[in-house]
Amino acid sequence: MQSNCCDMLVFGGTGDLALHKLLPALYYLHRGGRLHRDTRILALARSPHTRAAYQALAERHCRAQVARADFDDDIWRSFAERLDYFPMDASQSADFGRLAKALGSDRERVRVYYLATAPDLFEAIATHLKVAGLAVAGARIVLEKPIGHSLQSAQAINAGIGAVFDESQVFRIDHYLGKETVQNLMALRFANALFEPVWRAGHIDHVQISVCETLGVENRGAYYDNAGAMRDMIQNHLLQLLCLVAMEAPVRFDAESVRNEKVKILEALKPITGQDVRDKTVRGQYTAGKIGGQEVPAYYFEKNVDNDSDTETFVAVQAEINNWRWAGVPFYLRTGKRLARKTSEILIQFKPVPHQLFGNGQANQLLIRLQPEERISLQLMAKNPGKGMRLQPVELDLNLADAFNKQRRWDAYERLLLDVIEGDSTLFMRRDEVEAAWQWVDPIIKGWQQHYQSPRPYAAGSNGPEQLEHLLERHGRQWIEEAE
Ligand code: BG6
Repeated sequence: MQSNCCDMLVFGGTGDLALHKLLPALYYLHRGGRLHRDTRILALARSPHTRAAYQALAERHCRAQVARADFDDDIWRSFAERLDYFPMDASQSADFGRLAKALGSDRERVRVYYLATAPDLFEAIATHLKVAGLAVAGARIVLEKPIGHSLQSAQAINAGIGAVFDESQVFRIDHYLGKETVQNLMALRFANALFEPVWRAGHIDHVQISVCETLGVENRGAYYDNAGAMRDMIQNHLLQLLCLVAMEAPVRFDAESVRNEKVKILEALKPITGQDVRDKTVRGQYTAGKIGGQEVPAYYFEKNVDNDSDTETFVAVQAEINNWRWAGVPFYLRTGKRLARKTSEILIQFKPVPHQLFGNGQANQLLIRLQPEERISLQLMAKNPGKGMRLQPVELDLNLADAFNKQRRWDAYERLLLDVIEGDSTLFMRRDEVEAAWQWVDPIIKGWQQHYQSPRPYAAGSNGPEQLEHLLERHGRQWIEEAE
């Protein structure tokens, strides 16, 4: 099925996000026949590329990102016909006048402005779009995370954007929400009656949400050194996962109902301030080490990173939700770069049975893995064959790729770009959600600054700083580490 006819304008068109994620996702949508026949894609950036030079650049990146079997020269050529480049300086109002002329005034087309730029350009771009008469009704603006640097800067950006676009036109993207397994988490919870009665304090001991990466900061040192893992990952991706695990069932599966429930969770997060910043958070930064047998340098030797940087590349936090369902159940979040393995997963650790009949029982665990493979597995206790009641944990394992006959899994950006074109904001963050997330994150960052809590070193290729273990051990718990 084809989507609305649109003009997709990508600001930051020569950046990593556009070349590594957005264009490959658009290529796949084109290949799958999802884009309207007349949809155009216009990349915008300062470099003085010609159309042909930009198409060549885009082709190089798409060939590298798209699976070899899925890249076809004829399909590329027809995709490239949609693809144009417009050199401009997004901070210059006059350039938007030129842009308006180049675009023409076809009112049938949905205008999508994708801001794959630094957040400090968001407001200026929105204002220039307005002045040039481009902020028309029905247009959509897509903002990449992080929205701002703090609550205050996020509020300023949201207000600046809100002065030009109605909230229904604003799509704040968090690509984790576009991942299949993340949406499957909602299916698991709200399309199966089985889990609901036990999905609460009383039955659940704690929850672990881990997003571990083996990559370092790659070419993004300049951005990352100003952001750090708290702003880059916890404020958005991990808190979104926490919301989906913890929220109540929405009345309907539509944008307002889903987002209303998520925001209630963010508002119920117990603030972490004062002594709690020391007790309930761990900050780390990688030193030199080995990833997959290769030596990798310390963070402070990465390109465009200050060599006395105290930016964190690892964070773990013990979060708590002050509501009836979750009071007393810790949600342990952790994320980091240059760790031993790449994995994103959610572990629901149930409480042990109230009375142990067999001596060596272990409590049930439900593991929801987003990456590297999409899997849901429930660990149950079973009896070992033979005489006696010797118990052993076994897994009820659902590999989602196998269950759906290895159908190609859409990349998160494919799904989300299509949602933008179709105007469905269910999987995007509303203004109050983003601000509520900053409200919780800000005091932690301030606490680190006030107590000069510099990041703890951890060797690249390890599981993180040793203080990580204490966060759970002091409550008699352990991080899940195994991969299979
Ligand atoms: C991005 C962060 O939002 O998510 C990156 O800015 C991080 O630092 C990436 O590497 C992780 O995404 P994924 O989909 O690879 O888990």
